[in-house]
Amino acid sequence: MKKDNYKEKLRVLHITSELTPIAKAGGLGDVVGQLPKEMARQFHIEIRIIMPKYKFLDLEKYPAEKIITDLKIASPTGGWWKISVWKTLIPETIIPVYLIENNEVFNADDIYKHKPTKISSHPFFFLSTVALEFIKIIDWQPNIIHCHDGMMGLVPKLLKTVYKDDLFYQKIASVLTIHNLQFQPWFQFSEAKSVGLKQSDFKPTSKFLKLKVANVMAEAIANADMINTVSLTYAKEVLTKKYGASLDKLLRTKKKQFTGILNGVDYSHFDPRTNPDVPVKYWLDSLDKKTENKLYLQKKLGLIQSASIPLICVISRLTDQKGVGLIEEVLKNLVNMGAQFVILGSGGKSVEKIFVKAEKDYPKEIAAEIGFDADFAQTIYAGADMILMPSQFEPCGLSQIIAMRFGTIPIVRKTGGLADTVRDGYTGFVFKHYDKNAFLWAISRAVDVYYKQKDYWKKMQIMGMKKDFSWKNSAKKYIWLYKKAIRNKKKYLEGLNDK
Ligand code: GLC
Repeated sequence: MKKDNYKEKLRVLHITSELTPIAKAGGLGDVVGQLPKEMARQFHIEIRIIMPKYKFLDLEKYPAEKIITDLKIASPTGGWWKISVWKTLIPETIIPVYLIENNEVFNADDIYKHKPTKISSHPFFFLSTVALEFIKIIDWQPNIIHCHDGMMGLVPKLLKTVYKDDLFYQKIASVLTIHNLQFQPWFQFSEAKSVGLKQSDFKPTSKFLKLKVANVMAEAIANADMINTVSLTYAKEVLTKKYGASLDKLLRTKKKQFTGILNGVDYSHFDPRTNPDVPVKYWLDSLDKKTENKLYLQKKLGLIQSASIPLICVISRLTDQKGVGLIEEVLKNLVNMGAQFVILGSGGKSVEKIFVKAEKDYPKEIAAEIGFDADFAQTIYAGADMILMPSQFEPCGLSQIIAMRFGTIPIVRKTGGLADTVRDGYTGFVFKHYDKNAFLWAISRAVDVYYKQKDYWKKMQIMGMKKDFSWKNSAKKYIWLYKKAIRNKKKYLEGLNDK
């Protein structure tokens, strides 16, 4: 295996709220679960991960060993925090994952629903400080700290303020990956003390953006040594007012330190030849078997069993971002077109109700599977003919990439990673404007080709199945990003010395 010729091993610490399969809420978890694996395979690199030990972790499935009990960590306000630390591995690797335990702070059964406590106003601000203190205690000094999203955004800020004069931290460079710019944790300036900072520490960014609170995503952007988001198109889009979630102006000032790197997927799992949840395995030379998967799925969902009816799916969080509004608007049209529809996902109760009602109204044509069942998702990818992704914005999106591998044609809005991965008329159908007519136009084009140009449909399926969006190339780009972050940090320190 070719290894990068670093003299010394590059050391990278990820601090994260999710890691698939141990704790997943969305695509962020998939990235943190996959990227380190591929990087360790390709490069001379040492990677470790820090994340919370949530109460709901299944430690039978992912065995963890308690390595430290009741460790005292100096809290930013002067007292002590007590944590215990468990160690597990990313499954099938030797990459260590430190699980930070404090049941008072990580008190919910959902990754993103912990209630603020007296100890800390925000569980991930707590994690940020604890992670930085912990690496010093175990004397493991990374070259890079890689933070994911605004949740961990305090880390770049702390490195350039509270920890700036401490030799242990001084050279550590920080990288911020933006999976979704919309999530911007914040606190009142008056609470700055609780994270070890002064109100005045927030002045430069807040004055520039005219903010009335400390915005942690903004601070992460302002302080990280390198920033990326998860596709090139989203990286361009967020520089505009429309997609910038009020941070476009700040991002424009960091243009030289900001780029897009497309996410990969784990094809060893998403493979219609081997996935255990694909009832009848298939590949390029046995694509007709996909029909058997469709018949199986139709039966399972109580839909009319027919090989010729197009079966359209949605596998998604049911949120505005994912375009649920548009999906709802076209439901009746789909039925009128003679298509079938299945949706798998969860979201707000009111949205879920809409699809449950649609299933009641059209039990033979529409199926609503509320909840998230990652295994059943594979059965749907295998059995469906098309997948809809009319997202308002999409940093990368993984479902369209998985769908292509399963010969399921994506119908997507031309935004973010969807624009970068699906080619109109070749591997899928693409529409531009977020409105019902544009969406319907794309769907009817797809249905038309499905019925009338069977050979071309098959060609499209094969083109999609052959696409390679594995982590191989993206991992190389992250090495480049890390090196650049180290260089930027060096320059930053030299700049300080010159002053
Ligand atoms: C977020 C984005 C999605 C992206 C994922 C992983 O969930 O919404 O587009 O694929 O993060 O980066």
